[in-house]
Amino acid sequence: MTARLSPSRRESHVVSQPHLRTVVVLAAGEGKRMKSSLPKVLHPLLGRTLLGHVLAAAGPLGADRSVVVVGHGADQVREHLTEVAPGTTPVLQERQLGTGHAVRIALDAVPDATGTVVVINGDVPLLRPETVQALVEAHEDAAAAATVLAAEVPDPTGLGRIVRDVQGRLEQIVEERDATPQQRALREINAGIYAFDAARLREALGKLSTDNDQGEEYLTDVFALLRDAGEPVAVHCAADHVETLGCNDRVELAALRRLLRDRVNEGWMRTGVSILDPHTTWIDVTVTVERDAVIDQNTQLQGATVVGEGALVGPDTTLVDTVVGAGASIVRSHALGAEVGPQASVGPYAYLRPESRLGRKAKVGTFVETKKASIGDGSKVPHLSYVGDATIGDHSNIGAATVFVNYDGVRKHHTTIGSHARTGADNMFVAPVRVGDGAYTAAGSVITGDVPPGAMAVARGQQRNVEGWVLRKRAGTDAAEAARRAGEGASDTGGAASEGD
Ligand code: UD1
Ligand code: MG
Repeated sequence: MTARLSPSRRESHVVSQPHLRTVVVLAAGEGKRMKSSLPKVLHPLLGRTLLGHVLAAAGPLGADRSVVVVGHGADQVREHLTEVAPGTTPVLQERQLGTGHAVRIALDAVPDATGTVVVINGDVPLLRPETVQALVEAHEDAAAAATVLAAEVPDPTGLGRIVRDVQGRLEQIVEERDATPQQRALREINAGIYAFDAARLREALGKLSTDNDQGEEYLTDVFALLRDAGEPVAVHCAADHVETLGCNDRVELAALRRLLRDRVNEGWMRTGVSILDPHTTWIDVTVTVERDAVIDQNTQLQGATVVGEGALVGPDTTLVDTVVGAGASIVRSHALGAEVGPQASVGPYAYLRPESRLGRKAKVGTFVETKKASIGDGSKVPHLSYVGDATIGDHSNIGAATVFVNYDGVRKHHTTIGSHARTGADNMFVAPVRVGDGAYTAAGSVITGDVPPGAMAVARGQQRNVEGWVLRKRAGTDAAEAARRAGEGASDTGGAASEGD
């Protein structure tokens, strides 16, 4: 059975679309082989949990109801649902008595559900919305009682097999552990994704037995029951078997992550993004990258990160929930919840912490850490500095090795530097303090008081030279010898070194 519909059928389908749709996601299992205190479906995979990916794949169906069957780690799963999918209804399956039992409990929670019920195992994160949509459309167009998504896989180990009769029609779905050797040789598997007619599903679920190797109620047995009752059951083949891959342990999780990475990277490259080393570039599905951006190797883009047109990110960079303006560059750096203005430059080796905001053409250079810091257009913090709880106006320059001293041991305080200011190297700004527009500060200053606009602040000890100290106190050392030679040379030429004598 194919996903494609002829135009006339599609039209009649549209006209006669009375189908209410209910989505049921099965997520009560423990996922023993993950060996984790986190329920399997909550393991993260490039920006969403496994469960989050499944819900996203079902999203475009526009279901009237979505039910998630929870069991192991129910509280954690419920909490996650409140965050990512508040419209879904969690339904508790206290004991995991099988996938059929799970769906029965789910339907008990939505007694008025009619039309199509879409059931999806909670651990198939590579499933695409288009595929679920195609499965449901094929099911509804054929007015089938039940349709299963199937795929030909290279290695069917552990999965339920699709058993067809001589005419190629679905006969039954048999679990590997209950299968005959001939059935085990089949490579067409049940992906664990189905569409059902609600009424006929309910009826069949009431007839499930536990007469199988695991003593469980198998949802898959519904197909043989319906078929034996003369109801139309169908198989819908996934175009790409990769979409149907489940996740049972961390090795499979890593394999899924690589597959999803490749899918995501390919998608961005096709929209005009350069990814120099796709194998070491990990982009969450929640990220946006605009065209002509260049992503260099060993780079992770995560969460709500947005990379603007023509920006350069990487190598060796991690951006989390960070917005990068057009034409900006971020090299060997780490940023969390930061905003980098257009054409700004960051790194190498910068750490932008939450609420760091860089204006247009601003610069945060090497070994610089920022936090709750607004750095105005064209302003620069080029070297070895910490900027915390600060506002820096436009076109100011912060000298190397500056510390914004924001913490008094109890509370944080704010420093404000105006526009067109020039602060000297090795300054401490002891907050709260303000430096006015166009002001300068001398190198090595500890600024504890406000500096008026246009003033030069000097806050450091006066220099004192103790002449001849080394010759007197360190006689016989190489330093003393060098000083003596310098003194002789100076007296030969009458040079500057002898001038203070
Ligand atoms: C199931 C299918 C198998 C299919 C495979 C695809 C059955 C009987 N078999 O097998 O044909 O090839 O998925 O991955 O359905 N769950 C519950 N409550 C339960 C049992 C399971 O919520 O009582 C959930 C699990 O959390 C999981 C999903 O249902 O998300 C599938 O359960 P699992 O035990 O993984 O079934 P499989 O043996 O993989
Ligand atoms: Mg499974």
